[in-house]
Amino acid sequence: MTTILAIETSCDETAAAIVTDGRTIASNIIASQIDLHAQYGGVFPEVASRAHAETISAVVAQAMTQADMEYTDLDAIAVTQGPGLVGSLLVGINFAKGLALATGLPLLGINHLEGHIYSLWLAPDFADFEFPVLTLIVSGGHSELLVMRAHGVYQRIGGTIDDAAGEAFDKVGRLLGLPFPGGPAIEKAAKSGATETYNFPRAKTDGAYDFSFSGLKTAVLRAVSIQPSGGRRARRVRGAEKGTQLRDDINISDVAASFQEALTDALVSSTERAARDYKVNAVYLSGGVSANALLRAKLRAQLSVPVRYPPLTLCTDNASMIGAAAHFRFRAGHRSPLDFEARASWRLSEDVYAD
Ligand code: KG4
Ligand code: ZN
Repeated sequence: MTTILAIETSCDETAAAIVTDGRTIASNIIASQIDLHAQYGGVFPEVASRAHAETISAVVAQAMTQADMEYTDLDAIAVTQGPGLVGSLLVGINFAKGLALATGLPLLGINHLEGHIYSLWLAPDFADFEFPVLTLIVSGGHSELLVMRAHGVYQRIGGTIDDAAGEAFDKVGRLLGLPFPGGPAIEKAAKSGATETYNFPRAKTDGAYDFSFSGLKTAVLRAVSIQPSGGRRARRVRGAEKGTQLRDDINISDVAASFQEALTDALVSSTERAARDYKVNAVYLSGGVSANALLRAKLRAQLSVPVRYPPLTLCTDNASMIGAAAHFRFRAGHRSPLDFEARASWRLSEDVYAD
């Protein structure tokens, strides 16, 4: 049995968890900074790193207490090494290094995107499929399609060429004056909207399995905002993006539903093509946007292979997923030197731990 303490501070959640054998969560603590960033409509890097520094020690202590464990019960310490905001990453990394030094436990720097993939292993009923499987990671910072050929072995076959899927949700949410983060707010608003009100574009890209969402965002902006010569009355929407005036006759739920329809169509069509071309045995969906019910339902309905996703509570950032990914790294003999550095940009690819 291996028991790993994992720490995650790559963006706006200060998180610590204890995970056994990559499958069982002994504790999972998340201190969210959403309230702190909501006033800016997005994550403010300096504010994020300061908040991490203030809470990290209490969050780790709470993870140990909740699991009823001492440091002597642990086999290793894992921490998100990247990608992410460098100031935020460093808070977690330095804390983990200090702990490793003090306890003599081995240390593992983990790729955040690999963490998202392994969040699936934390569903109590998850039974993994034979490789290769296709993984679609859709979060606030990333949208990637990777063929996973073995534990820790990835081939990147596509991804976004501009905005990430979650970023598109967040930007459109801001445009419509919905609360931050935009993803859950748009999903909620869309429930009472009509998907066919607007026919927003499903962008085609040169790469067979790539996505593009910036044109979609522009199309939404054009559809809902007042054109300079339009002579329409502006609608005042609290919190809407500065400089944007929404038409007074739009129904926000209809815009949200039509936008969500277009975005999920684009994700599903590339994923469907990739799953067929690469003859994978299953599709693993992960990342914050994997919480979206429409995306889940469409993938299940339109793909001919099984589709799996994490429990709802583990779609957005958490440390358990880092502990799950670390388990498979640990088992494969991977260890990080005590002087490893944060990697703000770090693509998940075949040689993810080679350099
Ligand atoms: O994985 P995550 O917590 O952070 C990153 O690694 O980026 O993902 C956060 C993103 C945000 O953009 C948020 O709007 C989006 O996930 N999100 C959703 C939903 N819940 C969170 N997007 C669509 N539908 C949701 N239900
Ligand atoms: Zn994430």
